[in-house]
Amino acid sequence: MEELLQQIKNIKQEVTAYIANHADDAEAFRIKYLGTKGLVKNIMGEMKNVPNEKKKEFGLLLNEVKQFVEDKYNSLKQSTQQTDTNTFNLIDWSLPGNPITVGTRHPLSIVRNQIVSIFKRLGFAVAEGPEIEDDWHNFGAMNLPEDHPARDMQDTFYINKNPDWLLRTHTSSVQARVMENQKPPIRVICPGRVYRNETISARAHCFFHQIEGLYIDENVSFADLKQTLYFFVQEMFGKETKVRFRPSYFPFTEPSAEMDISCLICGGDGCNVCKHTGWVEILGSGMVHPKVLENFNIDSNKYTGFAFGMGVERICQLKYRVNDLRLYSQNDIRFLKQFTGAI
Ligand code: DAH
Repeated sequence: MEELLQQIKNIKQEVTAYIANHADDAEAFRIKYLGTKGLVKNIMGEMKNVPNEKKKEFGLLLNEVKQFVEDKYNSLKQSTQQTDTNTFNLIDWSLPGNPITVGTRHPLSIVRNQIVSIFKRLGFAVAEGPEIEDDWHNFGAMNLPEDHPARDMQDTFYINKNPDWLLRTHTSSVQARVMENQKPPIRVICPGRVYRNETISARAHCFFHQIEGLYIDENVSFADLKQTLYFFVQEMFGKETKVRFRPSYFPFTEPSAEMDISCLICGGDGCNVCKHTGWVEILGSGMVHPKVLENFNIDSNKYTGFAFGMGVERICQLKYRVNDLRLYSQNDIRFLKQFTGAI
């Protein structure tokens, strides 16, 4: 009994010490001392064990302590409420809020989306393929047999585990995937990332992005190819942009051509980007080689087609004057946030 008596007497001290340390939390105080599992209730539960002749003494003491704790709780509650209203009045609610900074799209995504939307308006659908490809889809089917010297044009990353696997060197591999699964008429564009074993510098990177185009139907001619690409350039770079085609070579097209546009950086006067020629190459193109069509059992007497492949980084460079390829993958927020507002 002595122990219980001492416990009751201690409460006052304990409560005072507790308030000194936790003066800002009235609710925690209530739970600890006055709640259903609180200290006061606990001791009240002990009353049944107190012998009858002592009950009065204990009861009086306990009531007094309980009153003491309740008073403390009430004043604690009042003082914390007061500080709450004080802070409320201290805040100037008319101040504008802190701005929420929203991320921006990556410049390469912006340019890819612009290109895709132009071709979509011409009726092209979007097709995608895997970045890890097999030799057949990346090379063989595109008329680059194993010993073909043109394979050297594209330094390939092979996958150790299986020498038949590689990181695709161009999005032309998606042409193969599409022809495998669809019958003409085919009209697709294929955006995606490609890989080449190049030393990283301002002008070269070991990965970059391309957009491939493929159109196969009856009577598709080189005039269709030119008209489609003229339209694209005018929509993408503006009506004043000049275009020229130069004969070229790709194993998967015959005839082949590269397309240049007048340099947007210097307006054709000559600068570093156009190597002082006034022209910048933006894509390779041509009429799909009959062998490529036959690889997919497409009758090359009945069907013809054109194809093209362009580099997204190059187009982004011309549109936004980004002069170092490494900037695209460095994730420097100072670079990336300059494209705010573009969609
Ligand atoms: N695959 C070529 C490259 O990566 C680009 C290309 C050229 C794609 C001509 C084509 C094409 O579809 O017809 O350099």
